[in-house]
Amino acid sequence: MKISVIVCAAGRGERTGFSKNKLLVPFMGANALYHTLAGIKRLETVLQSNGDSLAEIIITATPRDMAEITAICAPLGGRVTEGGDTRTQSVYNALKLVTGEAVLIQDGARPFTSVGQYAACIDSVKRYGSGIVAMPATDTTVIAENGYIGHIPARNTVFAVQTPQGFLTKDIKAAYERAICDGGEFTDDGSVYSRYITPARICAVGTAANAKLTFKEDFERFENSAVRAVNTSGCAVGFGVDVHAFGRKLNYVTLCGVKVPCDEGLVAHSDGDVAVHAVIDALLSAAGLRDIGYYFPDTDKQYLNADSGELLKKVITLIADKGFKADGLSIAVQAEKPRLSPYIEGMICRMEELTGVPRERIAISAGTCEGLGFVGEKRGICAYCAAVLKDSGN
Ligand code: CTP
Ligand code: MG
Repeated sequence: MKISVIVCAAGRGERTGFSKNKLLVPFMGANALYHTLAGIKRLETVLQSNGDSLAEIIITATPRDMAEITAICAPLGGRVTEGGDTRTQSVYNALKLVTGEAVLIQDGARPFTSVGQYAACIDSVKRYGSGIVAMPATDTTVIAENGYIGHIPARNTVFAVQTPQGFLTKDIKAAYERAICDGGEFTDDGSVYSRYITPARICAVGTAANAKLTFKEDFERFENSAVRAVNTSGCAVGFGVDVHAFGRKLNYVTLCGVKVPCDEGLVAHSDGDVAVHAVIDALLSAAGLRDIGYYFPDTDKQYLNADSGELLKKVITLIADKGFKADGLSIAVQAEKPRLSPYIEGMICRMEELTGVPRERIAISAGTCEGLGFVGEKRGICAYCAAVLKDSGN
């Protein structure tokens, strides 16, 4: 089946109090719209393995956001179209461009919809003609009448409606034509379909993670819980890599905090400890933080000839602030010179001192590049590190 996806992004996000559309503010390393679109790209791979295909992604945008949204969509694919004053109007505009047999309608403000939720929605459309992702209520809900409880629906009949919501294109187009004709305003698509076609089918696969970003606090909550949420095991893994070139008039290189005799040193703003830099990036990455250059810019004079070991200690406090402590390091150094094996034990001890990781969980391997590439030609040294963090319980 050819499936189109509409992403609603033409809102203003007024309830957040942000100065611009909530989908475009910095959020978890990108912005909410980017994450939503990235989720749809992951779905595309699954569709292909089921014999389905993605007809197109259509994104609604206000004229004010058109250029910015077009730029975000460019690498991920997708066609941007002008939205309307209401979500109903925006979806109506987008539906005109849909070519797929079925269409999924997704709020741009739900960046963490899982591929499984999209897939459940599609499956429901194939079997029943529609599929609305919804979360079973956990709280008792009531219908108020003049400020008093009027009616209490049985909790197992109550759902919080989310997106995606999927339909056969011809039906949802017909429903929206009538809704627009009637001048109706609906907060979701299942309401339009249920009003004009037939009751939409509920897919009870909604989750709290798929909740809509509506208030400023929703953004903060996700930012704070993100790292722990993806690492339910209480562990996080990160990877780092760094390179420095030879060429400094020195008779040693510093690696893992140890001075190793060499006929030249490594060129760097800091002490050039390429291995410690890889460790720092691995730790920051595991904790969901930015990279070494962000915290210790090489344009900043205070880091001129800096002892990288001191920077590493600061990074240990940064990850502690995120609730982590380092628990394992696997470091690999590629160097044609100097010979490192006599220094490995010393490096492991120093890394234990700097990071607090017990030495039995620190591994350092060293190798040459068999004369190949810049390492092989003795023009520089390259280091890699994989780091494991543990939830510190704080
Ligand atoms: N949306 C849209 N066109 C509109 C209004 C909303 O495409 N005229 C989109 C929003 O960008 C959002 C989704 O519909 O991704 C759900 O709407 P909502 O959460 O209400 O977002 P906003 O309207 O942007 O926020 P607010 O109501 O707080 O202003
Ligand atoms: Mg709104």
